[in-house]
Amino acid sequence: MSTTVILISGRGSNLRALLEAQLPGRIAAVISNRAEAGGLAYARERGVATVVLDHRGYASREAYDAALAEEIDRHRPDLVVLAGFMRILGDPFVRRFTGRLLNIHPSLLPAFPGLATHARALAAGVRIHGCTVHFVTPALDAGPIVAQVAVPVRGDDDEATLAARVLAEENRIYPQAARWFLEGRLLLTPEGRVALLREGPSAPPLVAPVAA
Ligand code: GRF
Repeated sequence: MSTTVILISGRGSNLRALLEAQLPGRIAAVISNRAEAGGLAYARERGVATVVLDHRGYASREAYDAALAEEIDRHRPDLVVLAGFMRILGDPFVRRFTGRLLNIHPSLLPAFPGLATHARALAAGVRIHGCTVHFVTPALDAGPIVAQVAVPVRGDDDEATLAARVLAEENRIYPQAARWFLEGRLLLTPEGRVALLREGPSAPPLVAPVAA
């Protein structure tokens, strides 16, 4: 049975979507770097173990990353899902989990990596915006893309309305991508490309790039 660990820092709408999706295998733990993260209460309600590992208790980023990696490894996860985990993870951490570490980012990467994506999309005047699920690699928000959803940017949008439109799609595609991974259909090849295998010979074409 496959095992997933989910990392959060806040509200937890993606966490909620992942838990509601009843993914294959078990969610071994939800880990947060903030004790006040709203998602923790929801995880507890669903009977999922929660762990708070506060980054402020560590002298350096490296020390925190090492403690976090150790906590994750206790659960021997097949998949580690960053669901609004608002910390940059250093190279050793990322390398330790390469190929089983997914992130969701609120923009159509490679546009608008980093923070404040919705405000920047509005300022740039783009007509479409969206979200991206990607494998995590050491370069920030630049890992191989698994899936993307675009939404329109409307003339009367502000940051909040645009963020809400994007978030609804995040909550839809993240469980889908996690499911592909846990079913063994989604992988990162040794060449660093995303492979998404078909479900069966008659399955309809997939949205993300198909390999093999
Ligand atoms: C989402 O927009 C996600 O893309 C970004 O942080 C936000 C987390 O939201 N990385 P939530 O906590 O899942 O509701």
